[in-house]
Amino acid sequence: MAKASGKSRTQVAIIGGGPAGLLLSQLLHLDGVDTILLERRSRDYVLGRIRAGVLERGTVELLRTAGVGSRMDVEGINHDGTYLAIANEGFRIDFKRLAGGSVMIYGQTELTHDLYDARDALEARIVHEVDDVRIECADSARPRVGYRHAGNDHVIDCEFVAGCDGFHGVSRKHIPVGVLREFERVYPFGWLGVLSRTPPVSDELIYASHERGFALCSMRNPKLSRYYIQVPLDEKADDWSDGAFWDELRRRIPHDAAERLVTGESIEKSIAPLRSHVAEPMRHGRLFLCGDAAHIVPPTGAKGLNLAASDVYYLWQALRRHYRERDDHGLDTYSETALARVWKAERFSWTMTKLLHRFPDQSDFDRRMQQAELEYLRSSTAAQTSLAENYIGLPY
Ligand code: APR
Ligand code: PHB
Repeated sequence: MAKASGKSRTQVAIIGGGPAGLLLSQLLHLDGVDTILLERRSRDYVLGRIRAGVLERGTVELLRTAGVGSRMDVEGINHDGTYLAIANEGFRIDFKRLAGGSVMIYGQTELTHDLYDARDALEARIVHEVDDVRIECADSARPRVGYRHAGNDHVIDCEFVAGCDGFHGVSRKHIPVGVLREFERVYPFGWLGVLSRTPPVSDELIYASHERGFALCSMRNPKLSRYYIQVPLDEKADDWSDGAFWDELRRRIPHDAAERLVTGESIEKSIAPLRSHVAEPMRHGRLFLCGDAAHIVPPTGAKGLNLAASDVYYLWQALRRHYRERDDHGLDTYSETALARVWKAERFSWTMTKLLHRFPDQSDFDRRMQQAELEYLRSSTAAQTSLAENYIGLPY
């Protein structure tokens, strides 16, 4: 490592200032555990990212516990169900009646704002625009994290490292080849998403399966809508005019929704690829992975942020036991505990993705199976209950 021009010490060094890293640092801080958080990007860049916006009840509870629930509780919208549509005809899945719970619509961008505000209020140590982050000696009792900031080298001596640096971060790569196992499925299509300052077309989300491909009608608040359509991977967002996007969306959603749809100028338009990915184990020595650093889900089940929250919950509880009771059981079982929930959410996200999208290599038989599955879901309370239970979030 280059000669260090800055040395600091903390209990938990956190790499990544997305929702996972911020929430973990906030929860630990409230317990009196010191953290330093390193983020590669500027704060404006992190806050400018448009991500999903469906919170499971467990995530909502955890955010309240972390003291970041007050704006969410005022501005968030409770959804007791969702619509599914088959070939332009919708039906509703009632989460509350079938599974006894609901979800909250609150954008991840807003949530990240609230987390930064809460961290500022407690004068948290957060370093933005760091470069060349290096984890050292994670399998010893004294790990270190080196980084460059504003042209200088720095080193943090710490007791634990939390790798919350997303799919492209450095933390997962620190787990040695031969120890790390990665499981992956890349889907042969993407989602073209549009954000528009228009009232949402529906009181609840609409997940639409259509001959031309999947579509989703979502929202951020009563004046801001988020819509997606499935597109081939080689398409470019810039090739889609707003008019072409709205026309294609109308074709895929229920007829009554298509008639009501209020369109407007897009304020963000981008294509996201779909991927399922899991890294095992989620721990190496004193390095613990949380959130997208360890797993990716396709967005069809709205599980990405919620899985990051459940990882943070398990790690926070484990560190709390370590610092309060000198009991390492939670740390020793973190990886298997977190992965047990991760794999169930991976299963759900993969099932929803397979059910609702058109696959380029689908045979006629595959298509009939998909249609039969959708018809089963439309007609069976048991099938709807299973979807509802998973959508609102399995217990921690
Ligand atoms: N050093 C420091 N920070 C890094 C590094 C690095 N080498 N690499 C990446 N980061 C930062 C990214 O800039 C990003 O801000 O780590 C952060 C990771 O944040 P997210 O990608 O938002 O991941 P996470 O916090 O796990 O949030 C859960 O699941 O499905 C998604 O939309 C959901 O973004 C949400 C995520
Ligand atoms: C979103 O609002 O961006 C959203 C909602 C539900 C999903 C995916 C994305 O399943």
